[in-house]
Amino acid sequence: MGHRKNSTSNNQGSMGFPNAQYQGTKIRFQDEDEELTTDSSKRDESTVAGDKVMAMEDDSMCEPDVSFVDGDGDKTSADYYFDSYSHFGIHEEMLKDVVRTKTYQNVIYQNKFLFKNKIVLDVGAGTGILSLFCAKAGAAHVYAVECSDMADMAKEIVESNGFSEVVTVLKGKIEEIELPVAKVDIIISEWMGYFLLYENMLNTVLYARDKWLVSDGILLPDKASLYLTAIEDADYKEDKIEFWNNVYGFNMSCTKKQAIMEPLVDTVDQKQIVTDCQLLKIMDISQMVSGDASFTVPFKLVAERDDYIHALVAYFDVSFTKCRKLMGFSTGPRSRATHWKQTILYLEDVLTICEGEVLSGNMTVAPNQKDPRDIDIMIKYAFNGQRCVVSRTQYYKMW
Ligand SMILES: C[S@@+](CC[C@H](N)C(=O)[O-])C[C@H]1O[C@@H](n2cnc3c(N)ncnc32)[C@H](O)[C@@H]1O
Repeated sequence: MGHRKNSTSNNQGSMGFPNAQYQGTKIRFQDEDEELTTDSSKRDESTVAGDKVMAMEDDSMCEPDVSFVDGDGDKTSADYYFDSYSHFGIHEEMLKDVVRTKTYQNVIYQNKFLFKNKIVLDVGAGTGILSLFCAKAGAAHVYAVECSDMADMAKEIVESNGFSEVVTVLKGKIEEIELPVAKVDIIISEWMGYFLLYENMLNTVLYARDKWLVSDGILLPDKASLYLTAIEDADYKEDKIEFWNNVYGFNMSCTKKQAIMEPLVDTVDQKQIVTDCQLLKIMDISQMVSGDASFTVPFKLVAERDDYIHALVAYFDVSFTKCRKLMGFSTGPRSRATHWKQTILYLEDVLTICEGEVLSGNMTVAPNQKDPRDIDIMIKYAFNGQRCVVSRTQYYKMW
């Protein structure tokens, strides 16, 4: 086993971000002999190539923004983060994530009663897609706030689709912008990062909620849950971690420590799952405070078969509980793949586990103190099985 579903996205976005929600955390390269589950990577290339050709032939197209050609200067990690969202490729990837975008569309179009005559704030509007859905569903007005240069594009998109009367695009950070209204009835946002919390955009939504949402206002989505399971992954652990033991005859095993600390973002084949899946944490976005994004939670994973465990796997789901019927999506390995994939945390030990045995421990999650968009994770685990006894603490950093 260990032959995992291919990672369809290896796109390096602007500034080397494979996508907007990703800076340093590893993304697995696709095996050369693996078939793509969709043709999206080929399509991406031809679109990019097509755009380049068009740009040369069509003088009416805008001059490239200087920010794309300027040197990096004194850019901070936050600058790189926002710059990454200025690139259309990241938005293309998000829009093509059908699970993500269609769920938002269905939530909005199938629950028009929520939007009728309501003022909506779209936090981090990107291309303006969610604002356009809301406008089409009958919102009285939508304020689409976007801090990256994509805001200029969103303005054009709103205009060319005839929604300028209903959608106002405001370029700037939520934390700095002035809204032309004192309160809004609905806040919609797609703020979720890898491992749910990477990027820390949730804080921006909470800030907007506390500042502008009416007391009986609605947040879309309003619930998010984080889960954990454990997998067998011998081949890939061998390839990515043990590889450092002997590199062209040299011992580079000191690098293993670093490699194991970086969670891997990839799709896990459900056949690799060895234990049950455990709910770690439910976040109620309408009630929580920003400090709730730092937590320690216990876990108990029960083996569903005899096997080895090489890694823990985290994933999340989000739900929209104010709809007529409960709606949402999961990023779990048993659901249709999304661009969030799953987050894999390799263990230093290989655990030999028998059906019914329990791997228990706790996970601590907190934004990195120096760069709060990064996440620090600590896992303490203990296992006392028939064939193996281990207890250990491991530290991970998503950056
Ligand atoms: C995950 S994307 C979602 C874009 C769009 N809503 C969609 O669904 O396709 C998040 C967007 O929020 C923007 N953003 C992040 N933090 C922000 C902030 N503090 N103020 C305004 N926009 C922000 C990013 O630039 C990015 O375009």
